[in-house]
Amino acid sequence: MTARRTLAVLVSGSGTNLQALLDASAGADFPARVGVVLSNVPGVLALERARAAGVPTVIVPHQSFPGRAAYDAALLAALAPYRPDIVCLAGFMRLLGGDFLRAFPAGVLNIHPALLPSFPGLHGVRQALTHGVKVSGCTVHLVDEGTDTGPIVAQAAVPVLDGDTEESLAARIRSEEHRLYPLAVRLVAEGRLRRDGRRLVGGPAPDAPGQALRNPGTG
Ligand code: GRF
Repeated sequence: MTARRTLAVLVSGSGTNLQALLDASAGADFPARVGVVLSNVPGVLALERARAAGVPTVIVPHQSFPGRAAYDAALLAALAPYRPDIVCLAGFMRLLGGDFLRAFPAGVLNIHPALLPSFPGLHGVRQALTHGVKVSGCTVHLVDEGTDTGPIVAQAAVPVLDGDTEESLAARIRSEEHRLYPLAVRLVAEGRLRRDGRRLVGGPAPDAPGQALRNPGTG
């Protein structure tokens, strides 16, 4: 295996997706490892998860900066000592500007609790329920300057059941997220994706059937 890619995981909350990436990183054949966890909110559970895994943590509260550009510059400065290749947003509740995104040509990834391009932004689970869709799910995508608009890396489908509440559907989607995010990070870290217009296309990892990798929810 070539050198493992270093991940910076950006969080604002409970960090269950961070945990999935930490657990995946513990696997000897996983092509990336979490090198730093950055939060804009002090005291969140995600920071505890990082510390428990022996991963360095950085807190950069956004309130102390006059605007997006200044905050982005502070994020870049805070991450620089850890030399991350790939940034994974995992419940990070801030938008990032072009200067930040361009600093990571290998990719800035986000996970969203809906099948994009449906239901971007806040409350993706609630929006899906309100619209009465019968299938929702989660999406890992490359981050661009829009809100959940970047090219799609991988998706997993989750059925919406008649009795679902926002909480029950969110919980089922969350378990799929924990499977999907490491698979998507593997694709990006191994350099398996290439752009074809707006699309990202590429072969599956050798140990996973293509359909299962690109859509683990139905595999
Ligand atoms: C997830 O639902 C993810 O889709 C969204 O934020 C949530 C983060 O949850 N972007 P956690 O902090 O990883 O538990």
